[in-house]
Parts: sequence; structure tokens; C-alpha cells
Amino acid sequence: MRTQVAIIGAGPSGLLLGQLLHKAGIANIIIERQSADYVLGRIRAGILEQITVDLLKEAGVGARVAAEGTVHHSIELVYRNTRHPIDVTGLTGGKVVTAYGQTEVTKDLMDARAAAGLTTLYSAADVSIHDFDGSSPVVRFRQDGELKELACDFIAGCDGFHGVCRASVPEGAITEYEKVYPFGWLGVLADVPPVSTHAIVYANSERGFGLCSMRSLTRSRYYVQCPIEDKVEQWSDDRFWDELRRRLDPEMAERMVTGPSIEKSIAPLRSFVAEPMRFGRLFLAGDAAHIVPPTGAKGLNLAASDVKYLSNALVEYYHERTSAGIDDYSRKALARVWRAERFSWWLTSLMHRFPDTQGFGQKVQEAELEYLVNSEAASRSLAENYVGLPLDFAQIR
Ligand code: FAD
Ligand code: DHB
Repeated sequence: MRTQVAIIGAGPSGLLLGQLLHKAGIANIIIERQSADYVLGRIRAGILEQITVDLLKEAGVGARVAAEGTVHHSIELVYRNTRHPIDVTGLTGGKVVTAYGQTEVTKDLMDARAAAGLTTLYSAADVSIHDFDGSSPVVRFRQDGELKELACDFIAGCDGFHGVCRASVPEGAITEYEKVYPFGWLGVLADVPPVSTHAIVYANSERGFGLCSMRSLTRSRYYVQCPIEDKVEQWSDDRFWDELRRRLDPEMAERMVTGPSIEKSIAPLRSFVAEPMRFGRLFLAGDAAHIVPPTGAKGLNLAASDVKYLSNALVEYYHERTSAGIDDYSRKALARVWRAERFSWWLTSLMHRFPDTQGFGQKVQEAELEYLVNSEAASRSLAENYVGLPLDFAQIR
């Protein structure tokens, strides 16, 4: 087998890259470890920046998000059990975010890929990548018990945090920056109307962080900060609803509709960046290169901006016969990545209870929340980052 770009991983990064390259006439094959159903079953992100929505449109899959996504113009911050709206659209000259689940994004991209007759090899075992430091990279894997080989010009490592691509880079060639947070998020998905359909609610409470998000007008996604050692079995639905209510303001707690969970999971929180994002003919994109804590909903959106830079660079390479774009990919992507890392770390630090912030740290957190909701400049900074910094922000060029 031979293709121009071998894409490892059929998450949002890999599928979006495949679609954008296909639109530009560049051949690609995706190799995915899991089955298509498994990939579609993973419940993850839900808030899309305008850049991401625009990119889905560019990839030819913009119709359903436009019809079914819920546009948000504001967010709400809760602390001391009082709600404070932040007018995100007013503070950013008209920008919005859209609530539309990662599962739906994945489904739209998978459907478009199937309709275009493009190859995705699911359930591929023992994937390994070779010779990306030379001019003829190769991907090897096992499918239906058979050993297979895919020759290509480039490998795109879109295989998430635990993938094989970053792990295949020689140790001395990569620098990793990491911060692990001392708590997790317990997430619940339920077919109940969201308590807030017009804004995501972020709650700082003495019992820990709480978040009210949504997937549609009939499906809610809620989270509470929990000890990282906790197991899902310790959290009955009743215990979850009771805990979330206690972290919100009384009016919202009263109004919240509860029901049986259809998914419940605990996720660790981590900040992580690997530098650089290019090694010869291997490029990393999305979670393969970086992780943000979910506060601020940047993970999926960063994956989308990496893919935009990478697809532009590869299109330039094939159509204009210049390496300038691929040579600059890592620098450009990392500049935006670090801005989102900073924002996600900051919002995580502001909204959660930390074991070591009982005294001074706690007081500073309270002062910052007061400042944030009372200063237009501070609110605008939050809003500007929340809607997503532009792709060509200042020195990113
Ligand atoms: P992934 O979605 O991880 O896709 C990588 C793909 O590569 C997977 O399909 C995987 O099976 C495949 N793969 C892995 N190894 C191999 C291999 N060796 N060979 C072949 N294929 C391989 N972001 C938010 O913004 N908000 C959230 O609420 C949120 N919640 C999250 C909850 C969880 C539990 C996780 C893990 C992430 C969450 N994120 C969230 C982050 C967001 O979902 C990711 O940033 C996004 O999925 C990144 O897309 P990706 O395609 O780069 O990686
Ligand atoms: C989700 C939404 C958010 O705004 C966020 O910060 C984290 C997660 C979600 O819908 O999953």
C-alpha cells in the first residue's frame, strides 16, 4: 500500500486532517487502533470555537453543526453561591461559541469520509512507524492477523496522548512539559434538559468546582471536581446530583432537572506540551502533542487549529513545491498551543479547590473572582480567550 499522507488515529484531529487534505486533492489513509463504534462511543468535549466551526464547514461537514449546534453568547460564573454572567459576545465584538458534541463532530467527519470513498483502516493492531527521519517513511500494523505495510511521504501523528507516534521519537529529540493536578472531574451525561441552555455555568464552591454544560436541548453534560482516587462506583446518580446542586446558586439548584445517567466517568486533569511538533517527516497534532485540563474547553479546539496549520502546510508543499509551511508548522502551532495552555491552567487554578490553598491561596482566588466579574478589562480577557484566539494572532505569523 502507498499514500501521500499516512494519518495515525481517527479522532477529531485525524478525521479533520484527512478531510481537508482530500478537499485539496492529497491522498491519505487513516489507521486507527479501535473500531469505528468504539471511537464514536467516547464522550468527550462539547464546546466549539468559531474557528473550529468554520473549519468543519471548510471540510464540507458544516451543515449539521449549523442546524443543530446551540450558539452561546455568554458564560456564567458562580461563586459564593451567586451567579455572575459574562457577556462574551459583547466583550469580543460579536464572537460566539457553539455547543455541539465531539461525538457528533466525529460522526459527521466519518460519514463524509465514507461518502467520499476514502480509506480508514479500523481495529489495526501493533501500529509502528519507521524511517520518518529519512525520505521514505513506512507504517506497519496488523489487521485480521495479517502484517501490513503502508509507504507514504509523510506521517501525521493524530493518535492522542497515549499514541505510538510521540513515543517513537528518540528521547533526546523531544522536550516534554507537564503539570498534573491533584483532583479529577466526575462527568455525567443525562437525557434531561440543560439547566442553562444559553450559557455554560462554571461554579467555584467551597465544596469544589462544578460545571453545567450541554450536548443538545434535551441532553445535559455536568461535572463535579472529585478526589482523583475516587471510583465511579462510589458515585450513585443521587450522590452526583446532590453534590452538583450544592455547588450552584440556589435558584439554579432548584430548577435543575435530574434523571438517570447514561454515561459516568472520572477524568484526570493534566497540562502537557511536547516540543517540537515535527520530526523529519513526522508531524504531531492534537492530543498526541499536548493536553489541557478541560476547564475552558480548549482540547478539541486546539486539535482543530493544529490541523488547520498542518493541512495548509501540506497543501503548500504539494501544490507550490515549497517546504516553508511544513518547516514553520511546529513554531506556529506551539505559539497558539501555549496561549491555550496558559488560559486553561489559569481558569483551572481560579475555579478549583486545591489541597494547599486553604489560607493565602484561597483569599487570592476570591479576590481574583471579584476582580474578574467587576472589571470590564478582566472580563474581556476571559471572553477573548474563551471564544478562541485568532489563528494568526500577533507573533504566530
Ligand atoms: P483523540 O480524540 O484522543 O484521538 C486519537 C485517536 O488515535 C483515537 O481514536 C485512538 O484510538 C487512536 N490511537 C491511539 N493510539 C493509536 C495507535 N497506536 N495506533 C492507531 N491509532 C491510535 N476537551 C474539551 O475541550 N472538553 C472536554 O470536556 C473534554 N473532555 C475530555 C474527556 C476525556 C476523558 C478525554 C480523554 C479528553 C477530553 N477532552 C476534552 C479533550 C478532547 O476530547 C481532545 O482534545 C480531543 O479528543 C483531541 O482529539 P485528537 O484527535 O487529537 O485525539
Ligand atoms: C465542557 C464544556 C466546557 O465549557 C468546559 O469548559 C469543559 C467541558 C463539556 O461540555 O464537556
